[in-house]
Amino acid sequence: MTVRIAPSILSADLGRLKEQLESAVSGGAEWIHVDVMDGHFVPNLTFGAPLIRALRKLTDRPLDVHLMVERPERYLTEFAESGADVFTFHPEATVHVQRHLAAARELGMRAGLALNPSTPVGVLHEVMDDVDLVLVMSVNPGFGGQVYLPQATDKIRRVRGLLDQHGARAVLEVDGGITVETISEAWGAGADTFVAGTSVFGTADPAQAVRNLTRQCAVRV
Ligand code: DX5
Ligand code: ZN
Repeated sequence: MTVRIAPSILSADLGRLKEQLESAVSGGAEWIHVDVMDGHFVPNLTFGAPLIRALRKLTDRPLDVHLMVERPERYLTEFAESGADVFTFHPEATVHVQRHLAAARELGMRAGLALNPSTPVGVLHEVMDDVDLVLVMSVNPGFGGQVYLPQATDKIRRVRGLLDQHGARAVLEVDGGITVETISEAWGAGADTFVAGTSVFGTADPAQAVRNLTRQCAVRV
């Protein structure tokens, strides 16, 4: 399994977005994580399709879009057309989860399901064949710069077990509080993709920050 770092532009200096992206990518960032918040599902309000379109022009890296919004299905088509590569939403935010996962795939995106700290892993049993990515939240979503919740590690392990048991090849991503101190624990539990906001764009050298995170995963603990 190889490690994939997905820096979150939530923590980027948007006035220097191009430069910040280029730095992260030069350090080895594979995906760019885009946190879409609607002020309802989470208190914060962030980006929408215009920024996804702008990012599409600024980088050729896959855009990993994480919707913290109610009724995310309203944005399936627009986000696909804007250049989103991954469409991840929360099961609590909508009624027909399976339908929307399938729709994301039909529109050419990877279909992702995000699990809040209190969301049971069991929801995955019902949609195992429909997910391309499982996002384990290691904080309660809504803000950057929060502390990694230690119970996320066991949840990652349980999701990894479930995916392996089903022979599923879905990406296992973790989001929230990922730093050089916490990433190896999540990697050791079986995550392969790591969202990192503050620990990449909160530093003076995003390229070096991505390299430092990647290095922590060199040895599986
Ligand atoms: C949190 C967002 C995260 C956020 C992570 O609600 O989903 O993607 O950008 O930020 P850090 O890495 O600072 O915890
Ligand atoms: Zn996120």
